[in-house]
Amino acid sequence: MREPARHEINATPETPSTQILAKEAARRGAADGSVFVTDWQNSGRGRRDRSWQSLPGMDLTFSVVTRRRVATKDAPLLSLAASLAVCEALRKFLPESVSIKWPNDVLSGERKICGILCECAGADYIDYAVTGIGINVNSRPSDPAPLDKKRPAPTSLLALTGRSFDLPELLASVLEELDRAFALVETASGRAELLVSYRARCGTIGRAVTIITEDGDLDCVAVGISDEGAIVVLDADGEKKAFNAADVIHARLKDRQA
Ligand code: BTN
Repeated sequence: MREPARHEINATPETPSTQILAKEAARRGAADGSVFVTDWQNSGRGRRDRSWQSLPGMDLTFSVVTRRRVATKDAPLLSLAASLAVCEALRKFLPESVSIKWPNDVLSGERKICGILCECAGADYIDYAVTGIGINVNSRPSDPAPLDKKRPAPTSLLALTGRSFDLPELLASVLEELDRAFALVETASGRAELLVSYRARCGTIGRAVTIITEDGDLDCVAVGISDEGAIVVLDADGEKKAFNAADVIHARLKDRQA
């Protein structure tokens, strides 16, 4: 396995969730850059306590411990940085089609190829962040039930390119991009650069979307990403609103999957 020098790779054949392993290790003081990767998660977790399915030995599922000097108020930018890093790594194989659905889903066309779960601990500054990344690589994910229109249908690198990929090589490539993107979050100029790159790759901007919050759904148009990483929308009355934490549906998903 080609390992980037600054990453300690902890590989295990099967585990409920690399996110659990990484958080336990982080609480015990695991170093910045520690990676927990598995051939198979039998109980993978997604955002909002959803499950994350992957196939044994086929997909990339890993979590990375980050201990960078990042103010807690800037922590949402780590999650955006992670999606930008995956996007850049996947664009080497899919140059045309890869984009980000706010906040951190990586799509090819309208289909989801990667999900990211970023969890932080700390007070004014983060003590650590654990970023869990699931990339559909050599599996052929089946579509969810037709009624599940709130989430993009899945796809994989194999389904999109017709060839299989070496998982350790892909991991090394994503880790390299993650290092670059996470480093940006530490400085004001880096954060500005990150936001320019993120906005350029974010396919949500300019789309009709439904924002799903605990208070209900809002049909609106996404007009930008704030400097804090929130999605900025215009509602039907032309009023500008920003959401820090929400699920987003791209409007076309209501009708068909590309
Ligand atoms: C989402 O799209 O809801 C986020 C999915 C995150 C999945 C990854 S796979 C590695 C890590 N371990 C987990 O249990 N979840 C994350």
